[in-house]
Amino acid sequence: MEGLKAINGKHEHVKFDAKLGSTDEANALIATRRKSKEIRRPSITLSREFSTTSTASYSSSDEEDDISPRDKEQRNSKNFSDFCIRNIKHADFGRREIEIAEQEMPALMDLRRRAQADKPLNGARIVGCTHISAQSAVLIETLTALGARVRWCACNIYSTQNEVAAALAEAEYSIFAWKAEEEEEFWWCIEKCISADNWQPNMILDDGGDLTHSIIKKYPTLFKGMKGIVEESVTGVHRLYQLAKTGKLSIPAMNVNDSVTKQKFDNLYSCRESVLDGLKRTTDIMFGGKQVVVCGYGEVGKGTCSALKGLGAVVYVSEIDPICALQACMDGIRVVRLSEVVKTADIFISCTGNKNVINRDHLDKMKNGAIVCNMGHSNTEIDVASLKTNDLTWEKVRSQVDHVIWPDGKRVVLLAEGRLLNLSCSTVPSFVLSITHCTQALALIEMFNAPEGRYKQDVYLLPKKMDEYVASLHLATFDAHLTELTDDQAKYLGLNKSGPFKPNYYRY
Ligand SMILES: NC(=O)c1ccc[n+]([C@@H]2O[C@H](COP(=O)([O-])OP(=O)(O)OC[C@H]3O[C@@H](n4cnc5c(N)ncnc54)[C@H](O)[C@@H]3O)[C@@H](O)[C@H]2O)c1
Repeated sequence: MEGLKAINGKHEHVKFDAKLGSTDEANALIATRRKSKEIRRPSITLSREFSTTSTASYSSSDEEDDISPRDKEQRNSKNFSDFCIRNIKHADFGRREIEIAEQEMPALMDLRRRAQADKPLNGARIVGCTHISAQSAVLIETLTALGARVRWCACNIYSTQNEVAAALAEAEYSIFAWKAEEEEEFWWCIEKCISADNWQPNMILDDGGDLTHSIIKKYPTLFKGMKGIVEESVTGVHRLYQLAKTGKLSIPAMNVNDSVTKQKFDNLYSCRESVLDGLKRTTDIMFGGKQVVVCGYGEVGKGTCSALKGLGAVVYVSEIDPICALQACMDGIRVVRLSEVVKTADIFISCTGNKNVINRDHLDKMKNGAIVCNMGHSNTEIDVASLKTNDLTWEKVRSQVDHVIWPDGKRVVLLAEGRLLNLSCSTVPSFVLSITHCTQALALIEMFNAPEGRYKQDVYLLPKKMDEYVASLHLATFDAHLTELTDDQAKYLGLNKSGPFKPNYYRY
């Protein structure tokens, strides 16, 4: 498994340069080093600040080529060339990856089959900016099967699966993305998706808000012909609400992040299923009896704790919110301040969506061999920047694994440079992404087909009935049989027999 190899077959030591104050300076140094071939890829990458859901996912072909895809002329087997990806030759491998994902995304495939005849997205021209993985390829191909035309780029510089991008290009998708894009290339790819001959997008599917932001800044007139924005991430949604509040949102937007079928499944169950995988692949650690501190007991923290407890770890939680803290108590977990266990715990996992939750003071006090990682969206939950001082040495021991070494020889094991552990070091379950992508597809269908005036220049949640529909599509996989309300019961509860079954304020 490539994720377990040491970079370039040997360990890299990097003494941090205290002068690297800014990201720009750091990137400039990295670029110079790359050019001089001093190192192929720096062990500490200070590239684009990760936004919202910004993640890096596991890809099997990440460091194959030093030539920027922008400098290559590529055509697919049908002579199509409106794309920019790492290597079109890997299309067959990527197609197999997509087919494997389809197997675990039965509900999205079912939605594709059910709606294919109606073509509810006929006439939709969707510009998309998401992670480019086998699972998102299933979404892209579903949208096309439902009648949409699309152009697509990556919402994150690291998360593209190159072979999947190749498969999409081979299938004549205009796709602009490769793993490990430079900052400037990232924005170039977005630009290529927005503007092209004979192309004027009328829908946006965004994850993080960078695409929407680009259109606002450079192509505001495009909004005139647009029907809506569908946004997936916490940060992107936050930006949209700010725009709406200041009267600057010129078209309707749908917040899919807060759909129940996204939040309760992606955040809770997906993390429960993937956190151990990320830790295992990078450290080979055994969990039984290990003391683990999980910072934050929201959805992600709950999933993380549940997985760890299942394998016999001794779990502690730190929380700021008394309700979540009490929930942890009820689940039999000790609630502590980080400072109480910082010297003794074996593993630290941040799951808060906050910043500097694990700071340099904590890191200074940890014991030799302590493992530190993050499951929250941004790479600032652990104050990684505070570890970039002259007194500490960084040693890259494996892909996504750095040892940070103190002057007395103490080593702290930092995973994925503080970025999302599961998306950087393992995979996330396709089934969960089927739920998330169904939600996105339905949000696009809803906005595209909504009668004039249903949605104004504001941010909306997906109608509850659609949330319930997404869930019901997935029940068939488990041969789960829903109970139907009797007429009498429906009357008693004041419900329609076909839903929605809960009010919007219900918390699940
Ligand atoms: N890794 C993944 O696959 C994945 C999936 C979904 C979401 N996320 C990200 O994970 C983060 C958490 O998501 P969530 O749905 O659990 O959010 P949430 O709001 O439900 O939970 C976060 C919890 O952290 C607590 N918290 C905040 N600051 C804290 C601090 N300083 N110390 C201790 N606790 C603190 C909050 O009180 C809250 O209970 C977000 O950044 C989200 O974007 C990651």
